[in-house]
Parts: sequence; C-alpha cells; structure tokens
Amino acid sequence: MSLINSKDNLNDIKSTLLQVLNRAGNDSHSAFRFIILNTISDGYPNSRYVVLRKFKIDTQELFIYTDSRSNKIKELKENPLVSVLAYDKQKKCQIKLKGKISIHYQNKLAKEHWDTLSGGKESYNTVEQPGKKVNSLKDANQMKNEFDDQYFALLALKVSQAEILQLNKGGHIRVLFDFEKDKASYLVP
Ligand SMILES: Cc1cc2nc3c(=O)[nH]c(=O)nc-3n(C[C@H](O)[C@H](O)[C@H](O)COP(=O)(O)O)c2cc1C
Repeated sequence: MSLINSKDNLNDIKSTLLQVLNRAGNDSHSAFRFIILNTISDGYPNSRYVVLRKFKIDTQELFIYTDSRSNKIKELKENPLVSVLAYDKQKKCQIKLKGKISIHYQNKLAKEHWDTLSGGKESYNTVEQPGKKVNSLKDANQMKNEFDDQYFALLALKVSQAEILQLNKGGHIRVLFDFEKDKASYLVP
C-alpha cells in the first residue's frame, strides 16, 4: 500500500505528510523515525542519520537530540539552514524537508526534552567529544561518572518547505509544500 494515491487532493496529501512525521516522533518502528540530516561543512554537504524525536503538526517543527560538542553543532552555528531526507521502503515514499535549525542548550525546552528521555543518556555523556580521534576503542567509549545533560542539545527545525514523492506503478506523485507561503503544487516527478 502506498502512502498517497492519485485520488488524494493536495490537502489530503499535506495532511498525510504531517501525520506520518508526527507518528515518527511517537513510534520507534516508523520508517521515518531515522532521517538524514544534511548540513554544510566547509562548503561540502555533510550527512548523517539522526532520530526524529518529535514533530509538531501545528507549527511544522521537528526535534532532534544531539551532543552539544558534535561537529553538526559547529556547522549549524555557521549555517542553520538544513535539509532532511527520509524514505519508507515499504510504502515507496520519499520525504524531503528544508528549514532553519535553532539550537536549544541548557534552557527550559532542552531540559523538558531531557526529562522525557528514559534510555540512551550515554549518547551525550562520553568523556571525549564526538568525532575526536582517540588511541583505542576503550578511550572512545569512556563515559562520565554521572549521566547528566551537560552536553545535551535539542535541535528544533522549523520546516519551511516539504516535498513528498510517492512512487507508483500507475504514475509517480510528487508534491511541494511551502509552509511559509502556505502554497502547494504538484511537480513533475
Ligand atoms: C540509525 C542512527 C541514528 C542516529 N541518531 C542520532 C541522533 O538522534 N542524534 C545524533 O546526534 N546522532 C545520531 N546518530 C549518529 C550520527 O549519525 C553521527 O554519527 C553523529 O551524530 C556525529 O555526527 P557529526 O559528527 O556530523 O556531528 C545516529 C546514527 C544512526 C546510524
């Protein structure tokens, strides 16, 4: 079963798109749970998988957790404009997002998200900073004595544009949504 079909109008497609992103934030089995976050590093695109932790339908905001010492933070401080890519293999559907990231660190919103984290706190508690060259695997995985939010950063992506591509035997469906201009249009796939 595809996510969207030729009977859906632009409003139906928009609502499906927003709902699948929202579901990905609540369902660890969602195909859109793991997304590729693309930043710019020294002029080159730099990509990595991250977890979509939350998506707010009303504001089109997407939330990601990371280590404040990671390279992506340095890149985002230089250029907060990003793209995000995800693909549901079963539904044959690709989603592409564009927008601007705000970094939340040691503030109320970051603390609220930190408090909801039950597991995985070690990801933000290595002794050395992510990406640093070390002499051994042991050094790479050395953890702080206490797991706290000292290096926890919340990335809030305000999505300005979203594109969905549904692969269909009968004809692909590609639609672009501009949330800032509140516009939607079909695109040649
Ligand atoms: C499936 C998967 C999920 C990941 N989720 C996250 C995540 O939510 N946050 C994060 O910072 N890194 C996550 N990572 C690790 C990143 O891909 C990346 O290696 C790390 O964040 C360092 O990236 P950077 O050096 O570009 O900052 C994930 C990796 C994989 C394979």
